Formats: sequence, C-alpha cells, structure tokens
Amino acid sequence: MDELHITGGNRLDGAVPIAGAKNAALPQIAAALLSPHPLELTNLPKVSDVDNMLRIISLYGATVESHAGGTTINAAHVAPGEVDYETVRKMRASILVLGPLLARFGSARVSLPGGCAIGARPVDMHLKVLSALGATVDVERGYIVASTNGGLRGTRIVLSGPSVGASETALMAACYAKGETEILNAAREPEVVDLAACLTAMGAEIEGAGTHRLLVKGNTTWRAASHHAIPDRVEAGTYAAAAMITGGRIELVNARMEHLSSVLQVLETMGATVWPGDRGVVINGRERIRPADITTEPYPGFPTDLQAQFMAMACLADGASVIRETIFENRFMHVPELSRLGADIALNGAVALVRGKPELRGAPVMATDLRASVCLVLAALAAEGESVIKRVYHLDRGYEQLDRKLAQCGADIRRVSV
Ligand code: UD1
Repeated sequence: MDELHITGGNRLDGAVPIAGAKNAALPQIAAALLSPHPLELTNLPKVSDVDNMLRIISLYGATVESHAGGTTINAAHVAPGEVDYETVRKMRASILVLGPLLARFGSARVSLPGGCAIGARPVDMHLKVLSALGATVDVERGYIVASTNGGLRGTRIVLSGPSVGASETALMAACYAKGETEILNAAREPEVVDLAACLTAMGAEIEGAGTHRLLVKGNTTWRAASHHAIPDRVEAGTYAAAAMITGGRIELVNARMEHLSSVLQVLETMGATVWPGDRGVVINGRERIRPADITTEPYPGFPTDLQAQFMAMACLADGASVIRETIFENRFMHVPELSRLGADIALNGAVALVRGKPELRGAPVMATDLRASVCLVLAALAAEGESVIKRVYHLDRGYEQLDRKLAQCGADIRRVSV
C-alpha cells in the first residue's frame, strides 16, 4: 500500500494540466451501455474509478479498447447479467449502469453500491425515477431488481432534490422511453450537461441541459459517436487551493473559468488573484490567507467536493471561518486528521468553525475518502516538517498523478510503497 511523504513549506510555482472530469467520465461510460453502436470517449482521466467503471461495463459484455486518442466502447453484445458486490462496492457511481441496462433490455439486477464513506448516500431517487418511467423496482438481499412490462414510458418526473446521479439516471433511461420525458428539479452541474452532450452525439434528443427542466424525446435512434469530456473542475479547484495554501502561483491549464465561478469568488475573498490565462486560469496566492464563510450547495453554488480542500486553507487563515456542509451529512471526516496537524476546528452538526492558526505541523495522518485525503495533502504542503499520508489509494480514485503534478510545481512530495 502506498504512502505519500510530504515536507511542507515550498511555495508552488508552475502549470498543471487539468485532466478530464472523473464525474463526467463515469456516467458517459455507463451511457455507452445504451447503444448498439460504438462510443469513443476522449479525455478520460487516468484514475482508478474510471478503470473500475470500464471493468464493470466489460463484465456486462462491453468491449473496451484504449488507443492513443481515447477509449472506444462497443456495447453491441451486452447482456444485463449480474456483477457481484465485490466489483461495485468500491464505487457508488456503479449505480449509473442500472438505468441504461433496464431501459435497453427491460430488466436489470444490480448490486446496491458502495463508495465514499460520506454519509448514508441512498439511491432511492434513482429507483423512484425508474418507477416513474414505468419500471417495477425492488431491493432484494442487497440487489436492486428492476423490470419493465413492455418497455419504459415517457412521463413527468419531479426530483425531490437536484441529485446529480438521479438526474443522470433519468436522462439515460428516458432515451429508451416511449414518448417524451420531462425531468423537473434536475441538477444543473456541468457533468450533467456534458452527459446530455454525449447522449446527443449518440443520437438522443435532449433540451434544457444546464437548467432545472430537462426534456428527452425518447425512442432514440442510436449512432456511433465520439465525445470529449469536460475538464475536471474539482481537480482545478484543488490545485487552486494548493497555490493559495503555499502562497504560490499555479496555471490551471485547460480549466474552464465558467465552471468555477463560485469557487473563484471564494478564492478571491480569501486573498487570491485570479485571471484568465491563454491556456486556462491562473491563480496567484498571497502570503496570508483571509478567512471565509463557505456553504456547500448544488451547482452553481460552492461544490461539496471542494469543501475539505478549502477547510485546509481556512486552517491557516488570519481569523475564523465558518464552513457549512449542506449536501452530505457526514463529510467532515478530515477534521480529526487536520487536528493532528495542529488545526483548530470546532464541529457543530453540519457546521465547522475553523480558527486560523499561523502554522500547522507535519504528522502521520490517514486518508479516509477521496476529497478528505487530498485536503490532508494540501495541509501537509503548508505544514512545517514532514507528514506521512497513508491509504493513498483513496487519492488514486480521482486524481491523475497527483504527486507528479505537485512535484513539478516544486512540492517536496514522495510516493513510497510500504
Ligand atoms: C455526485 C458526484 C459527487 C458529488 C455529488 C454532489 C459523481 C460520480 N459523484 O454524486 O462527487 O459530491 O454529486 O455534487 O458524479 N440523494 C438521495 N437519494 C438518492 C440520490 C441522492 O437522498 O437517490 C442525496 C444524497 O445523499 C445527497 C444529495 O442527494 O445528500 C446529493 O447527492 P447527488 O447529487 O445524487 O450526488 P451523487 O450523484 O451521488
């Protein structure tokens, strides 16, 4: 199992290529199951969640061919068999294969997913979406068992909240429904918009992507397609935090300013200078970080996937910050580990009061989930002395070559196999 050894104190300076978005890639890989024609996906990030999703669809019979320009998935001979819990437990996004399999084949049996330990994370909204489209859905001994009587039927779906995953399940399943489907209270995240673009390239007719009301025509005529995933706004926000916390300067190559507006606004409040560069976005940190009030919200609000990283910055701010988590109920697992580095954080339910300190001190810490572990990396980059971060496999789920990219900007970081 690998560890990261980080000696803090280096000011980062350089350019970081932002990879394709993991959270855009995962539903697009699932979407490949819908069509009998090949789908070429380019800009897939080289992270273990993507490898795992490709493995899952290949277990259903899809062929996956990687070539220099991208990955071509051919789902012509897919069958809605069963993939065991051991394979899907690693990743909550495995639920995304349910909608496509059910829609195309009229039945599916998919294990309830696992994933990050950040709260209950139920899948009830995914199941309600499929029921609304006319499926019979049951949960039996840890498996979701779903079937249709003569196919899905277009309808009006009102989501109880703008869930990213449930919106994606609805979009994909509705492509096979007879007649039009209206999805209200849909998520507006760029990853949902990118899935709609990918489905459109595959032949779907979708209106309203990026708004709370999506319209899907149904009865899609599928065709071979190619799609290029958007850049990862969470990876970009993480390197922006790395620039800030070390008082350095990082050019986020490929990053899209329009996907990062709430994040860049908070960064500026905390003292960063942000400007568009020729190749992306440039972040200039400053000697001292200012405190901030941050509330996580659905897009275009501040993303929950950057809450931990910004808390690491707040630990070193000149004053107290308040951070409210409104999306997931148990997303503060990084707090005890940040405290081991000397942070002063008081938790009260979904609110963290972070009193900034002049310095953090290196220590051994344990990664607990994807974003929590990267927040420990950020804190370690700024801490005095050496930190050792264990359970690095969490980071490898969603960050492509994190240690290499940070080292290229001047970080003292080493990956050690133990
Ligand atoms: C996606 C992202 C994840 C991000 C999250 C919120 C992927 C692969 N993951 O996760 O990184 O943190 O969006 O931006 O894209 N909920 C239910 N029932 C459901 C589904 C969701 O109650 O059936 C709740 C969740 O527990 C949570 C909220 O809805 O409180 C939002 O979750 P959702 O937007 O669905 O997140 P994911 O799609 O799982």
